[in-house]
Amino acid sequence: MNILLIGSGGREHALAWQLAQSPSCAKLYATPGNPGIETYAECAPIAVDDLDKLVAFVEAHRIQLVVVGPEAPLVAGLGNRLRALGIAVFGPDAAAAQLEGSKGFTKDLCARANIPTAAYVRCTSAQEALAALDDIAIPVVIKADGLAAGKGVIIAESRTEAEGAIADMFGGAFGGAGAEVVIEEFMTGEEASFFALSDGQHVVAFGSAQDHKRVGDGDVGPNTGGMGAYSPAPVLTPELQQAVMDQIIRPTVDTLAADGTPYVGVLFAGLMLTEAGPKLIEYNCRFGDPECQVLMMRFKGDFAALLHAAATGTLAEAPAPTFTGGYALTVVMAAKGYPGTPEKGGAIRHIADAEAGGVRVFHAGTARADGVLVAAGGRVLNVTAIAPTVTEAQARAYAAVDKIDFASGFCRRDIGWREVAREAR
Ligand code: AMP
Ligand code: GLY
Repeated sequence: MNILLIGSGGREHALAWQLAQSPSCAKLYATPGNPGIETYAECAPIAVDDLDKLVAFVEAHRIQLVVVGPEAPLVAGLGNRLRALGIAVFGPDAAAAQLEGSKGFTKDLCARANIPTAAYVRCTSAQEALAALDDIAIPVVIKADGLAAGKGVIIAESRTEAEGAIADMFGGAFGGAGAEVVIEEFMTGEEASFFALSDGQHVVAFGSAQDHKRVGDGDVGPNTGGMGAYSPAPVLTPELQQAVMDQIIRPTVDTLAADGTPYVGVLFAGLMLTEAGPKLIEYNCRFGDPECQVLMMRFKGDFAALLHAAATGTLAEAPAPTFTGGYALTVVMAAKGYPGTPEKGGAIRHIADAEAGGVRVFHAGTARADGVLVAAGGRVLNVTAIAPTVTEAQARAYAAVDKIDFASGFCRRDIGWREVAREAR
């Protein structure tokens, strides 16, 4: 089949790599793609939010499956438009994409389906939000309802800080995303990510990962999109994964199906492993970036056929997803300045050397300028290794990082530290 992959990051490079290897993929296109994706796909310069042009491209190239990388086109209704034309889409319609598009929507769904999550109050005015503070202990979590590129969550350590966050959000600091605010109870525990694929009715587990959101070693400094990840995350034991499927994932899929807004695509659950069991922090309606890179590194099988089964309501008949043993670990190399203003245009050399020995270097924000690969975004490369233990995968990934010449780049040196420490015990 002809497949279109939408997006341009490291997540999409990893997806393109697996899709292109799939026996059921005849031809792969990507919009807009990046210099790494170009190795596997014919790329066309269409922005991910240009829905009209994307639909026209799909019709002109007789695409049989569309795989949507980022959330924005899904929340904007790309799935609806393509499905209306009879095209198989891996990614939910706008109604079900509200799981990521509106935190209040997800919290209400959790309340209806009895899904474990933090206690919350939805507020549409600063006055309401200030009143809600009286009933929730400090620290308290204040969230802009809509998409805020990962920046709409404030953990307030004092009442004054909480009041400031509420004033900022209703004052327009997050644009339309902050027109509604969710005030939440603060949960403590270790965080982990869990993935599942759904065709609207059926759902299968797709593995676990743990990422590193802060920019600095030891998890300090500002939040980023993710500085590295590893998979699987052993902290999510088989028993805990079963509990997540039974108490969180299946009730979500069943409730959306019963509402007439079935969920098609990947459910990415951000979890807090509390003393009282796993609780949902948030859902994303897409693969994680860089979590996807480590999942793809381990996946074995016909990935295109699996996504097509999810997109066409036939997941129950598809072979269950299989993965290699061991652990995959990815280190994000970012441009200096990230997550603030990244330094663009810095040259990158010796990726081929780094890839010797089974390491894969996925491109995120790269471009070619006069034949030289250069940095073109905040997160630039994802250096990804696989090994029998997290400790060995970490060593392989950093050995590869050290072969790359990227003077205007930096990375964390401790990706996987929680598991490396556990393995040393
Ligand atoms: P989110 O954008 O919802 O994933 O939130 C970003 C980060 O904020 C999460 O990865 C958690 O570290 C933290 N967070 C969000 N909600 C809570 C909560 N209710 N309790 C504790 N930490 C939270
Ligand atoms: N790495 C976190 C995310 O993709 O949201």
